[in-house]
Amino acid sequence: MLSNAFVPVALIIYMLTINVKLTLLSLICVPVGIFFFCLMMTGSTESYNNTIIKTKKLNDTAVEYINGIEVIKAFGKSKTSYDKFVTAAKEGADCFIEWMRRCNLWQNLSLLLMPYFLLGLLPFGAKAYMDGTVSGNDLLMLIILSLGLVSPFMTIASYWDGIAKMGTIIGEATEILERKDLIRPETMTEKPTDMDIILKNVRFGYNEKEILHGIYITIKQGTVNALVGPSGSGKSTIAKLIASFWDVDEGSISIGGVDIRKIPP
Ligand SMILES: Nc1ncnc2c1ncn2[C@@H]1O[C@H](COP(=O)(O)OP(=O)(O)OP(=O)(O)O)[C@@H](O)[C@H]1O
Ligand SMILES: [Mg+2]
Repeated sequence: MLSNAFVPVALIIYMLTINVKLTLLSLICVPVGIFFFCLMMTGSTESYNNTIIKTKKLNDTAVEYINGIEVIKAFGKSKTSYDKFVTAAKEGADCFIEWMRRCNLWQNLSLLLMPYFLLGLLPFGAKAYMDGTVSGNDLLMLIILSLGLVSPFMTIASYWDGIAKMGTIIGEATEILERKDLIRPETMTEKPTDMDIILKNVRFGYNEKEILHGIYITIKQGTVNALVGPSGSGKSTIAKLIASFWDVDEGSISIGGVDIRKIPP
């Protein structure tokens, strides 16, 4: 981006030494193009965040659908499960389409006008030439140089979008990196007596909103247990807590009588 910015700067300086007035006139479309470009970029961070959220949801749904395909087929739930996936896919596509539709006009206007250096240069240059205030050589030079401005300008505009997206991407990554590590010992101090899993008064929420409100469960070693409940009620959350991916907010989970917070990863 920097190298593309230096080329126009150098060219414009050189053009200014040839003819100040005509150079400024050739740049007349740039502010107008930038204005439309800014209109296009307004709200782009929010829109990009939105597409990330929707895409993540689509990914989750796709993975869930494919992982659960045996169960879905066995219980004849193809339709409802597939609908969930289709809805996520449609929402994912819609948020992109809606965003692009909103940008379309401004983007095209800015791409059309920003590099249109000849629009000011040609008529005023021709007039200046006829008036004798600029020589034919100088005018030709200005025209050639102004054409050289086009592609660096377009390249800068294309990078700009990437820079706007970078903030969101870095934010996503730092959010994960800045999460606190779970505190777990290096070595096992207490040995579990068996493999019974016991949840006692477990309260938990991913953010402020509590998802599990005081859960008691006993899962005996060697048994198969079913966890049943509506979507979003917290079944997977319970499984993730037992696997020790998060710490409970209140209560405890133990395996063989040992609190999982005392079991090394
Ligand atoms: N990583 C997360 N961050 C924030 N909220 C989450 C996270 N994972 C799940 N939730 C929320 O916690 C609640 C319980 O989700 P969970 O996935 O445990 O439900 P579930 O019972 O497994 O649903 P399903 O039957 O659809 O699999 C939901 O409201 C969900 O939006
Ligand atoms: Mg689940």
